[in-house]
Amino acid sequence: MDVVSIRDFSIEQIEHILDVAEKMVPIARGDEKSDLLEGKMLGSLFYEPSTRTRLSFEAAMMRLGGKTLGFDEPKGSSVAKGETLADTIRMVDAYSDVIVLRHPQEGAARLAGHFAENPVVNAGDGAGQHPTQTLLDLFTIRKETKRIEGNHVVIVGDLKYGRTVHSLSEALSMFGAKLTFVAPPSLQMPKEHIRHIESRGIKPSISSSLEEVVKDADVLYVTRIQKERFPDAAEYQKVAGAYKVNMEMLKDVKKDMIIMHPLPRVTEVDPEVDGTEHAKYFEQAFNGVPVRMALLALVLGGIQ
Ligand code: NCD
Repeated sequence: MDVVSIRDFSIEQIEHILDVAEKMVPIARGDEKSDLLEGKMLGSLFYEPSTRTRLSFEAAMMRLGGKTLGFDEPKGSSVAKGETLADTIRMVDAYSDVIVLRHPQEGAARLAGHFAENPVVNAGDGAGQHPTQTLLDLFTIRKETKRIEGNHVVIVGDLKYGRTVHSLSEALSMFGAKLTFVAPPSLQMPKEHIRHIESRGIKPSISSSLEEVVKDADVLYVTRIQKERFPDAAEYQKVAGAYKVNMEMLKDVKKDMIIMHPLPRVTEVDPEVDGTEHAKYFEQAFNGVPVRMALLALVLGGIQ
């Protein structure tokens, strides 16, 4: 099975992955050992920068006894000689059992899936989707708030180019969460995703003022303005630093409201917020390991 879009999953499948991920936590922490994926190889192809996604996939594979190969910089591979994505995928498919692909073009993972015999996992395709980030986001929300359904999730930042929020908001609509999208009008959630969310029976609120909506949030999901996706630097400058979560803003929020961020952050969450009970983004980043362990084990047939 390829993992390209969060739309590929049912609620039952997502819940099963999260349940398996919970059992993986002691192995992810290194407190228990596992050889579940011994002899298996992960091909890790990153055509765009990454810290958490790439390293947590590698950690997940190695904690389960598997191995990894690949590149984190296409310049060092035959991509620099002009090799097509299709040919690179065919090669790595022959050398590994599962391919994890991050690529600047939307649709790249779907395309790769056509050329690979083994499963392809989308680790971010341009401004498209980031389904494994969504799984770890859901895991974090479920763990920290004990539920997904019924939560009011306020998503703020770059909703146009941010792939994490495309997958996440679609998934949250499946689970029946209440959604509010906060962004400058030029960076609001694209219509295609709104339509999909509405088809699940959820009508998201749209706002450009974080102050107005943050008091009612159970989860505040903050994202970076995706500078690298702007066709024009002047356009980026207009919206850079549009939102900043700081201590002042947290004065009147719910006591148990949690703040999440896929990371990396630039200026949108003040480091002084890190020490508060609200901040969960570092736990969230760790959760990438057990969630990706669960996904790899299921995809590679290590477990049912
Ligand atoms: C995100 C991404 O690459 O989409 N990072 C991640 O995978 N945790 C978010 C971002 O780059 O802003």
